[in-house]
Amino acid sequence: MQIHTTIAAMQKASAATRRSGQTLGFVPTMGAIHQGHLSLVRAARAQCDVVAASIFVNPLQFAPTEDLDRYPRPFEQDVALLRSEGVEHLFAPTPQEMYPAGATTFVEVAGLSERLDGASRPGHFRGVATVVSKLFHIVQPTAAFFGQKDAAQLAVLRALVRDQNFPIRIIGCPIVREPDGLAMSSRNRFLSPSERAAALTLSRALHDVAVLPNATPDRLRTFLIEAIRQAPSLRLDYAEIVDPETLLPAQDLNRPTLVAIAAWSGATRLIDNAILAPV
Ligand code: PAJ
Repeated sequence: MQIHTTIAAMQKASAATRRSGQTLGFVPTMGAIHQGHLSLVRAARAQCDVVAASIFVNPLQFAPTEDLDRYPRPFEQDVALLRSEGVEHLFAPTPQEMYPAGATTFVEVAGLSERLDGASRPGHFRGVATVVSKLFHIVQPTAAFFGQKDAAQLAVLRALVRDQNFPIRIIGCPIVREPDGLAMSSRNRFLSPSERAAALTLSRALHDVAVLPNATPDRLRTFLIEAIRQAPSLRLDYAEIVDPETLLPAQDLNRPTLVAIAAWSGATRLIDNAILAPV
């Protein structure tokens, strides 16, 4: 695996891949690699000739009050995991390389960026869209792989690629879970045993809501809010029943519907979701 820390080196490597007529699959991450990330790498491997990943903890998508400084950065371990999956190129730039002094261009997907996580984390999706747009220009992949775990992020990035005419296929991949159902996340390592036990409420509630009789969007939402309220150490951020593409509230359940929750377990913010198929 080649590790590129400069934009110029990564651009050169991807240009060589394209010149050779090979397809390039790209998996952007912030590191602290787990099986969720590796499932994206495997999907890229299955669909493309060459695989590139990136590790960059993007300061632009963290608010000043958020956990940028304590975000885990086990770089050597990450490198070993990506290498063992046969990733050919790793792009791992410094913040100075990505945002040199004087960089003032931002990318904003208006509307979508204010919904779900965007409502509780103002500016978050502007940071995500800006860095992913830069990464796409640098890596110039054929296809890019993202987790359904971050359903709102996926909707924002699909809109970004459509609106800005990036010639890149966006591939959404299923949520990878721990054996007990907890959605894998780089932040799960922050959970104490009791916070982790409470965190299971999210996946359980999503599981139960899928089989609720006489379901309407309102009833689903009320059920989720109540499930989170009954777990004493959880604090609800949002519970939303929305269209997976527009992230606007669903009027009925006659088409695929995104059921998404965010909640705090102690100091750790957790998200999880499910797509409900029409009955
Ligand atoms: P990060 O949180 O590191 O996630 C990188 C990718 O892994 C995202 O596409 C995310 O949806 C996916 N992922 C995380 N947990 C997953 C799970 N349990 N199952 C399946 N996929 C999972 O998302 C980001 O980084 C950043 O916002 C980024 C897109 C890299 C831009 O900075």
